[in-house]
This record gives sequence, structure tokens and C-alpha cells, in this order.
Amino acid sequence: KKSGKKRIRVYMDGCFDLMHYGHANALRQAKALGDELVVGVVSDEEIIANKGPPVLSMEERLALVSGLKWVDEVIVNAPYAITEEFMHRLFNEHKIDYIIHGDDPCLLPDGTDAYTLAKKVGRYKQIKRTEGVSSTDIVGRILESSKDMKVLEGQEGSSPHGEPDEKSHAKGGHISHFLPTSRRIVQFSNGGKGPGPNARVVYIDGAFDLFHAGHVEILKNARQLGDFLLVGIHSDQIVSEQRGTHYPLMHLHERSLSVLACRYVDEVIIGAPWEVTRDMAEAEQCLNADSVGYEQRKSVMTRHWAEPEKLDRSSDARQNSAEAVKTGARFVHDLPYKID
Ligand code: CTP
Repeated sequence: KKSGKKRIRVYMDGCFDLMHYGHANALRQAKALGDELVVGVVSDEEIIANKGPPVLSMEERLALVSGLKWVDEVIVNAPYAITEEFMHRLFNEHKIDYIIHGDDPCLLPDGTDAYTLAKKVGRYKQIKRTEGVSSTDIVGRILESSKDMKVLEGQEGSSPHGEPDEKSHAKGGHISHFLPTSRRIVQFSNGGKGPGPNARVVYIDGAFDLFHAGHVEILKNARQLGDFLLVGIHSDQIVSEQRGTHYPLMHLHERSLSVLACRYVDEVIIGAPWEVTRDMAEAEQCLNADSVGYEQRKSVMTRHWAEPEKLDRSSDARQNSAEAVKTGARFVHDLPYKID
């Protein structure tokens, strides 16, 4: 980074389809190469022309990218390739200093590099691609889990042909073996900042599987209820018990990174219990060990239900659980949950 007043503005583009922590990690690295990060979200038409139709709409991809804590500005409907004309728009209109992309080749249908021009004028920089995750891999996991479900449904019917493939679910066959290091978690965290002395801590829990635009929306709303947002991410076992053996599609560590990358999140519990237990209250208290005690803060607890119709009944059981009541927290229901 340069000293003096000039702030370095960097640009990274992408499709960001089924946005995952690999994308988040790319944008985190891009941001570190400058002071302000501008992200170009490639238009549906351009994605269709260059790699086939995306799974998520422009609106959803935009919501996901904008929700990342490293993103300062977005350019909607960016082109897939950095053309001469677009490059000059980036330099002149958007005051971009460097154009950034992952170290994987990004080829156009005619076999040429999408970043040739930027490289030629010496305004190109590279970041390291994150191994172990891609949109294609996630689509694979979705397909495999629905295949498992079909097999199971077939079994319930009168003439079961297939046996459920033991290896592909429950045992984590479709689950990536990616494990984040402590360093990666630190990189995604907010520098260990805890809530201030009189902060209202908001707690929200959920599976946060396949992190999507609806999650961004609910986390934003939850954060607005207080000053500090603590997110409990249910363990793989709990998610399996609640939703079926083919879930979660993203394992606990992957889900934790996606949630941590969200700008509205201050802290996560990696593997939160289903019930709000005394332990949970203590975990929250720990966050403020240096400041005012737990009782002196007004806590708001919120619940996130991914499948409201299905889970609403059990929510009563949870909110009235003796342990939860003991924490003295207030429960808030029916947070707006726009896109799902
Ligand atoms: N990226 C990354 N690590 C990944 C996936 C993507 O660093 N595991 C980076 C790419 O290098 C690119 C940016 O994220 O700079 C946006 O990627 P995108 O255009 O969405 O496409 P892909 O690279 O094809 O990503 P995916 O395979 O997940 O669709």
C-alpha cells in the first residue's frame, strides 16, 4: 500500500454463482492488495455466452457479493472479458488502479486470456485460488444429495430397486474434506473485537447451509436489532438430524467461513447446540468477560428458521426451554426473510 493520500482502488470481477468461501477468500485477498475493492458482477447474458447459464439470478449474486465484508462497491452487469473499452471505463470512471483475478486460467471461448489487455498495460495482479471448492463442485453435491433422496423415496415405494448408497451420504461422501486452518479463520474474523461495554448482543442460530441471499438478508436484519451479532452454526450432526441424512451440503467449517465472511456478523459459534443452553449463555458471557456482566446487557435472541412451516412448532419448545429462559434473553420471531 502506498503512503500518502492516494487510496489504491482494485477491481475484481466474477460470476459468483452459488457464492462460496473460495470467492470470499479471493475477494479478501484482492482487498488486501489495495484500499478499496470494487467488484464487477458479470451479467447473466455474458455468463450464458461464456460458460453456460448460472444457477443464481443477478439479483441473488449481487446480494451475496454486496454482503461480503471486504467489498466496498459493486458494478452490476460487468462484462466477462476486460475489453479495451471497459478497461478504460474502469481506469477513468471508476479510478481503478489494478485489475485482479485468481491464478487459474480464465479463458474466453476462443481460447484467449480474458485479462490479456490488463496484463499488457501492467495493471494486472493475481491472488491465489482457493482449493477444494467451486460452484461446479457445489452443483455436484446438490445433484448427489437429490439422487440419494430419490433412492430413499424409491425404497419407501412398493418396488425398491436401488439400495441407498451408504457411501454417498451420512458418511459424508459428497462432503468436501476441506478443513480451514486457524489462520484462515483469523483472516475471516473481525480482528478479535468483542462487544463494547453496553452492547446489545444479538444471537441467531441456524444451519446456514449453501449460504444464500436470504441468509444475508436475515443476518442484516438481526444485526440491526442490536450492536453485536453472534451467530451459532449448528453442527453437521444436528443439521442431519433436523433435515435428513443428505444434509448439510456444506460441512460445519465451510458454513462457518461463509457466515464469517458476511459483513453483518461479528462472531460465530462453530457447532452451536440446538437448544440455547446455559453453555451458550456462558459463551456469550465470555465474549464480554472484560466488560460489563451479562445481566447488565440487554440481549436479544433471534431464531432463524430455514423452513418456517416445518420448524415453527418445534420453535416453541426451544424458546420455552428452561435453559433458554434462564439466560434472560428475549426471543424475537418472524424476522423478514425475503429470498429463499
Ligand atoms: N476463485 C477462487 N477460488 C475458488 C473459486 C473462484 O479464488 N475456489 C476466484 C476466481 O479466480 C475469480 C473469482 O473467484 O477471480 C470469481 O470466480 P468466478 O468468476 O465466479 O468463477 P470460477 O473461477 O469459475 O469459480 P467457480 O469454479 O467456483 O465457479
